[in-house]
Amino acid sequence: MTMSFRKNFVWGAAAASFQIEGAAREDGKGPSVWDMMCEQPGRVFQGHSGAIACDHYHRYKEDVELMKEIGIKAYRLSVSWPRVLPTGEGRVNEAGLAFYDRLIDELLQAGIDPWVTLFHWDFPYELYCKGGWLNRDSASWFADYTEVIVDRLSDRVSHWMTLNEPQCFVGLGMEFGIHAPGDKLGLREVLRASHHVLLAHGRAVQVLRSSAKVVPTIGWAPVVVAAYPSTESETHREAARAAMFDFQTVWELNNDRKIAVWNNTWWGDPIIFGKYPEDALEAFAPALPPIQEGDMKLISEPIDFFGANIYSGLQVRAGENGKPEALPLAQGAAMTAFRWPVTPEALGWGVKFLYERYKKPMVVTENGLSSHDWISLDGEVHDPQRIDFLHRYLLSLAKSVEEGVDLRGYFQWSIMDNFEWAEGYKERFGLIYVDYPTQKRILKDSAKWYQQLIKNNGVLPLLGQE
Ligand code: FCB
Repeated sequence: MTMSFRKNFVWGAAAASFQIEGAAREDGKGPSVWDMMCEQPGRVFQGHSGAIACDHYHRYKEDVELMKEIGIKAYRLSVSWPRVLPTGEGRVNEAGLAFYDRLIDELLQAGIDPWVTLFHWDFPYELYCKGGWLNRDSASWFADYTEVIVDRLSDRVSHWMTLNEPQCFVGLGMEFGIHAPGDKLGLREVLRASHHVLLAHGRAVQVLRSSAKVVPTIGWAPVVVAAYPSTESETHREAARAAMFDFQTVWELNNDRKIAVWNNTWWGDPIIFGKYPEDALEAFAPALPPIQEGDMKLISEPIDFFGANIYSGLQVRAGENGKPEALPLAQGAAMTAFRWPVTPEALGWGVKFLYERYKKPMVVTENGLSSHDWISLDGEVHDPQRIDFLHRYLLSLAKSVEEGVDLRGYFQWSIMDNFEWAEGYKERFGLIYVDYPTQKRILKDSAKWYQQLIKNNGVLPLLGQE
């Protein structure tokens, strides 16, 4: 069984500023809500913090060297807003901006295309104190910040993502308080914030279109609440589609925690269709945010690709009366170290259903797993689970491509082990192992496997059949 991907397929890996950079207080960086979260006892596993993380701020050269060795074609990074604008607006911190300059140059020299995410959760603390995303001005703050980044980096960067996973930073951050800023707001505030987040996305797209020096390719990177059918039959496919796009079904099946904004359509529909989904509007009334004239047009400024962060999904079938139902996991079913179910079909089907609905070129902006990796007696890091996981997920992805999905790229989460938010350093998602006390990097077996896979553009025999 081999996999085939288009010529020029973008094989990449991803990380995010707060999770790897460290240098939390250096060179004039301002605090972010995640710095604030790390200071609060009991918020992050064993009191871990992002203060040093992978020290990527100082070790980026070595890291880019390793990326080159693995052979990734593109690297998805994010910019820390408060590193560039210490209070989130106004004065630009030249030293912070210069770091991204150096990083981008280093990547380009290594033949790696930088794909830049404007916002991956490290929101400026000073803006949080001004109301954060609850303040409608947040869209303008974000546009101004985007202007600074675009002005400086867009002569060399052509691929952009506006936001990473609003479902998380609004849902987990503002509604459930598990992520920064750690608030537990009511539905009305959560929806208001989400509307502003969408406005910010639209404003950033506008800035990119009008100011980028190299023609920009623009997307975003949402959580995908994924589902796949129990069999290929159209009835079950329809059930799986409903488990991704029908608001009530998603709510019932896909959302143990009952996070209001944990779905695909509340975000994806405004961005692509310029309107909120009717079923969600109904469900959320009367807590809906004020929507001003022109808002929906702004939010739906055309984008070029639809990103997808997919780690797992539900197996769904049409039950009695055709009502979609999720199949329970078998006892002892495969799970990652994080206890996320291993469901390879979620990747292929997730991408396929999104492509059907939104009709945009697709990019897998994140996929991967945390596993129990450590340095073996032989000094190597053996991670057979990661290799098997990636291979299975990629086979599923290849199937979606054969079936006609316009898929442009695939980004492994993550290039290296890093600060996994409220889980601290407990979860290891990297292709590169990071020994935090010494900051030593070791390519895991999976990195070498990925290297071969990239060389062959996805054509690789199954493990054990070489
Ligand atoms: C996603 C985040 C990313 C990382 C992975 C494991 O939700 O975008 O930063 O934490 O999960």
